[in-house]
Amino acid sequence: MAGVGLGAEGGAGLEEIAAGPALPNMTTPHVATLISAPEIAVKIRELGSRIAMDQPGRPIHLVGVLKGSFIFMADLARAIPAEVSCDFLRVTSYKGTNSTGEVRFETDLTEPIEGRITVLVEDIIDTGTTMDALLRVLRARNPAKLLVCSLLHKPSRTKVTVPIDYLGFTIPDRFVVGYGLDFEGRFRNLPYVGVVEGM
Ligand code: IMP
Ligand code: MG
Repeated sequence: MAGVGLGAEGGAGLEEIAAGPALPNMTTPHVATLISAPEIAVKIRELGSRIAMDQPGRPIHLVGVLKGSFIFMADLARAIPAEVSCDFLRVTSYKGTNSTGEVRFETDLTEPIEGRITVLVEDIIDTGTTMDALLRVLRARNPAKLLVCSLLHKPSRTKVTVPIDYLGFTIPDRFVVGYGLDFEGRFRNLPYVGVVEGM
């Protein structure tokens, strides 16, 4: 066959291509794995099935909290065997590794959530301050349901208790990065959740 192929001869195999490029050594050696990529993948399949099963025959509207949720949301959306729509909002609440306790809305949703089964998708619930503020604002917009799905939860840091309908993993009080979570903008692209060594 002529033209551009997928490296059938001499090049990388399909599995290698699907696994993606090896990450540069600049970042990977310093981040110890807490939750591996396969563990995350298994959990997301489970969460996706549960979300669809809990709302039989109904479309699901996912609302991702940027930036941290973008990778989780992309995988979660594909794991929900139902009609799914997606929107995003952006809030900032953090500088470095400590919460400022202040939540600022930077970008609002592009569509109304009124009458829709809405699932708020977060990377992590730490003190609960961000989710609590978000839930107050979004409840006032009268969604049919407002559910919370978070990849991670640090219960030892709770200041405000919020309902978490779908949770990936409970983690200890460590600052984690990867799979969307950052430290000062870095490490979001790691395919696993880990702890930056020395932090
Ligand atoms: P909360 O308002 O204290 O619950 O904090 C929520 C936000 O803080 C999350 O959406 C994250 O963006 C950020 N955050 C909290 N803990 C961590 C962490 O361990 N790593 C990276 N970001 C974190
Ligand atoms: Mg976040």
